[in-house]
Amino acid sequence: MKKILIIHGPNLNLLGTREPETYGNRALADIDKALVERGQALGLEVETFQSNHEGAIVDKIQAATKDCHGLIINPAAYTHTSIAIRDALLVLDIPVIEVHLSNICKREPFRQQSMISDVVTGKITGLGHHGYLLALDAVDKLISET
Ligand code: DQA
Repeated sequence: MKKILIIHGPNLNLLGTREPETYGNRALADIDKALVERGQALGLEVETFQSNHEGAIVDKIQAATKDCHGLIINPAAYTHTSIAIRDALLVLDIPVIEVHLSNICKREPFRQQSMISDVVTGKITGLGHHGYLLALDAVDKLISET
């Protein structure tokens, strides 16, 4: 079974209570559950991972080179700062979708910069929790073409 890794960056463990007007009311556990269920419907194994630590995210991306067929990543605040995450993504040879709950293109100028947008396969921003499921559908289509 093909495996898709979902990575959530810092503070996304607080989804549901953190700035709900910006990030929605849904808890991360509920988003992950929906992703696992959608994966089952598509015949994909879905692993989810959240960390508040840049190095842990880099380690997880490096590990994905061994057994993952697709990656969905919301690096959260590290989107705007992390050359380390960008460099780790450059090693991957699988579809990578960048996801943001909010539309970072219409937020503060510092959020409009992404360190990874030009090295990922595609990007979904501003569609709330739906963005993750749309990204999973997109990865499914991309890997079934290869
Ligand atoms: C975010 C946007 C980032 O700017 C912010 O730091 C986050 C979440 C989003 O999903 O909209 O933590 O990645």
